[in-house]
Amino acid sequence: MYDKIVSFAKRRAFVYPSSEIYGGLSAIYDYGHYGILLKDNIKNAWWKHMVQLREDVYGLDSAVFMNPKTWVASGHVESFDDPQIDCKKCKARMRADHILEEHGIMADRETIEFVNQKLDELKEQGKLKCSACGSTELTKAKRFSLMVKSNLGSPTEALSEKNVVYLRPETCGGIYLEYKNIVATLHPKLPFGVAQAGKAFRNEIVARQFIFRTREFEQMEMQYFQKPEDMKKNYEMWKEIRWNWYLEYGIPADKIRWAKHEKLVHYASEAHDVEYNFASLGGFKEVEGIHARGNWDLTRHSKFSGVDLNFLDEETKERFIPHIMETSVGLNRLLLMFLDNAYTEEEVNGEKRTVLKIDKKLAPIKAAVFPLLKNKPELVKKAREVYEDLRQNMMTEFDDNGNIGKRYRRQDEIGTPYCITIDFDTLENDTVTLRDRDSMNQERTPVKDLKKKLLKEYGCEI
Ligand code: GAP
Repeated sequence: MYDKIVSFAKRRAFVYPSSEIYGGLSAIYDYGHYGILLKDNIKNAWWKHMVQLREDVYGLDSAVFMNPKTWVASGHVESFDDPQIDCKKCKARMRADHILEEHGIMADRETIEFVNQKLDELKEQGKLKCSACGSTELTKAKRFSLMVKSNLGSPTEALSEKNVVYLRPETCGGIYLEYKNIVATLHPKLPFGVAQAGKAFRNEIVARQFIFRTREFEQMEMQYFQKPEDMKKNYEMWKEIRWNWYLEYGIPADKIRWAKHEKLVHYASEAHDVEYNFASLGGFKEVEGIHARGNWDLTRHSKFSGVDLNFLDEETKERFIPHIMETSVGLNRLLLMFLDNAYTEEEVNGEKRTVLKIDKKLAPIKAAVFPLLKNKPELVKKAREVYEDLRQNMMTEFDDNGNIGKRYRRQDEIGTPYCITIDFDTLENDTVTLRDRDSMNQERTPVKDLKKKLLKEYGCEI
């Protein structure tokens, strides 16, 4: 299934390996025509439920680069790392915590001493091997920083801890830095949230799972600021909102589950992941995290910047640093999840049909318009008129290439929910055949009703 999804994603212009003509660049991907359309639809679906339908959440688009002190205050410079081991024979690089996990030892957020002690135990039992070549000659684990550095405004040779700037490893840093401006300009009452979607960068040690774990990716995060006593209630509320979001966009309830973090960072009181059962990756894996972070982030930024980040409660006249809970999801990971869930191969009249049974609201192309015959100018003219009208409101394609069956198959593969054929009856009575992707049923529909039907009744609108 993994190979099928990877090759499908490239063949149908969803995801390309980056820099391919130069031999590629590990764990970096580009998004083709249908990929960017799908990605934008997922992002808009997230934004709709996190901002548009909420009166208590504001939007933000903060910069990738921030004052480097941001990441000292957040603890990333000191300890945002993974334990790395190398194979002395084939030079493969591995994540030691993943190897331990495969043997049932949870090493998330453990010290390097703990990791090495557990690796030694596995070695003694003859269970520690290179995952690439099977050699037992492995290095000790060492800390590998995930921070990506740049030399913005300073010459490359002068890159040092003093003048380094970082590409943000998570988007929420910008939300904490803009909290003061948001409070001063939008005057929110507690609780309120700030949401943003944008690029993040991590120097991942191993990234072999297509777009699941990459070095450049997009996150969609929402930080919810509140009184500490409201945390429990709001945490449960957001858990429910996020769970329902997956169902709303067609992910079956039995393909997702909650995974509770047993080991928490010192400032957190609760953390859960939404895990999706990836057929292409062989099981349940994290797509989203929901974390109760206390007042740690704002307290640290207040301390490191010297700026008062207290919130003044107008009713009680109390001043305090709000507590934060966050929802944090990877957009690229969601795209993989939706492809994984929708990719279907089935047999129709003895022939194989590949169809992307993706939620209609997320489908990259909502409708495709075909003239029955390419060489009949009156059919082509009418088809172009219908196409021009629909594309004002939704992504629509025009196709007059090959027979109708082939055109249906091409649209099925990219998940287009509706195909519209203009035939000779159209010229008589202004109706078209409207063909449904999933049932493959066709119905005659008046041209004047098409747009409304597709957008409202048939659920193509995000
Ligand atoms: N602010 C909290 C935070 O960043 P995280 O668990 O490190 O938490 C949140 O990341 C989400 O971001 C993950 O659940 C995942 O969907 C996505 N993500 C993290 N690292 C990623 C990577 N290297 N490639 C793609 N997505 C990633």
